[in-house]
Amino acid sequence: MNHLKIEITTEISSTGKTEVIAVCVFQDEPRFSGNVGALKEGIEAILNDGEFNGEEETSLFVRTQENKILLVGCGKHKEFGNAESNHAAGAAVREARQRGIKKLFFVLPENASAQIVTEGAIMGVYENDFYQKKDEDEKRIETFALVVNEETEEIKRATECGKIIAESANWTRELADLDGLTLPPREFARHAAEMAEEFDLKVETLNAEEIQKRGMGGLWGIGMGSDEPPVMIVVRYEPENVSSDDELIAFVGKGITFDTGGISIKPREGMEEMKSDMTGGATALGALRAIAQLRPNKRIIAVVPSAENMPSEKSIKPGDIVKTLAGYTLEVVDTDAEGRVVLVDGIAYAKELGAKKIVDLATLTGSIIIALGTHRTGLFSNNDDWANEVIKASECAGEPVWRMPVGDDYKKKIESNIADFKNYGGRPDATGAALLLSKFAGDTPWVHLDIAGTAWYDDATSYSPKGASGKGVKTLVELILSLCRTDC
Ligand code: BES
Ligand code: MN
Ligand code: ZN
Repeated sequence: MNHLKIEITTEISSTGKTEVIAVCVFQDEPRFSGNVGALKEGIEAILNDGEFNGEEETSLFVRTQENKILLVGCGKHKEFGNAESNHAAGAAVREARQRGIKKLFFVLPENASAQIVTEGAIMGVYENDFYQKKDEDEKRIETFALVVNEETEEIKRATECGKIIAESANWTRELADLDGLTLPPREFARHAAEMAEEFDLKVETLNAEEIQKRGMGGLWGIGMGSDEPPVMIVVRYEPENVSSDDELIAFVGKGITFDTGGISIKPREGMEEMKSDMTGGATALGALRAIAQLRPNKRIIAVVPSAENMPSEKSIKPGDIVKTLAGYTLEVVDTDAEGRVVLVDGIAYAKELGAKKIVDLATLTGSIIIALGTHRTGLFSNNDDWANEVIKASECAGEPVWRMPVGDDYKKKIESNIADFKNYGGRPDATGAALLLSKFAGDTPWVHLDIAGTAWYDDATSYSPKGASGKGVKTLVELILSLCRTDC
């Protein structure tokens, strides 16, 4: 993992050689803000020349006699939210690194959060180049210095939180970017256990035999087609000072380490992206990785049903009926709608372990990408209060969501004539998938995040390489630690 040292400063001390000073520039007034010090007039002069209009996703590199300056386009003030400031910091870091810069001074604009900007910077240095041969003189940016008006305790805490959270999001991305060959379920479980040990979390992962013995027929069924056995990864954060009567919150994440579609095999185009079909699980685990370091007084577990969805003579077949942990039977009409089949056992197991509130995350449906594109995660819920808490957290985290309906008006999609439910209703739909999950959540407050569109960048952006986005980790941490962020 690339490490970035975070500093806070009230003074820009650049020699103008291996340092650059980044300033956010807007399209409307005030064109820039924050502690720019002696650079003020110089920047004004550049902007008055009309050389840079501040459009989002653009930047201008300027060399003056004393300094190197990077003007980062931030668009219009009213559209400049947490997602945008996060991306601006990431773009600045990547641009600076590209230019061989070692230290980036980033002037925190007024109204931007120090935590969000720190997170953006650290997520900006992420690379999924671990399969590539490295150059000796690889460009590496070492320090991100946040330039503020005053070095307060609040800002210090915000950057510390941001560092922990963003490094965990990058940990999640690394898992999601690993190929299916490297990361079958047992390896996924090993990574989880290794992380748990490092951060003093408990692990209670179930192996294939236990999965079958306990009656998790959904996870077992989807896992049957592969030589790589399924696992149910469970990681727990339970601080000593919190009583076991205290409310338990569960993050349940889809952990399909590769999704071929099984017997209902997928078309070839883009199938390689299905190596990231375990991103929901990696996100749940990444959130625990951060939470373990931030140490809130709450009990949280991550539950990750993990399998490889393969076609073979041993595979589950269309029409097969599995008995799930909750006791309901499920007709598997389409083996490519496998996510919901493993998740219902994950949700039921989380409840068995005592979860009183659930958030599940899954790269669940192609149709959510059609509905919402790649900018917003689809949110489904059976409980307005819990849904609103998650929505608020996602806004603070700069990871926008959009609420979608769950209701029995869609029940035809999941009604089976032979089993209690079926997994597919004749036309791929995110709402049908969510409705099925809701039947297993029952009365437990539950939020389902369909991250199929947001977990993965189809193309490189100014702030990220093509590949895993790590989105969702920050939202989950924010949900648990609304106290951590003081500036949202
Ligand atoms: N993992 C896929 C969903 C997906 C698609 C995630 C594209 C990320 C990008 C899921 O298991 C799947 O195959 N969904 C199908 C279900 C259908 C066959 C009922 C879909 O949504 O098309
Ligand atoms: Mn599938
Ligand atoms: Zn899938």
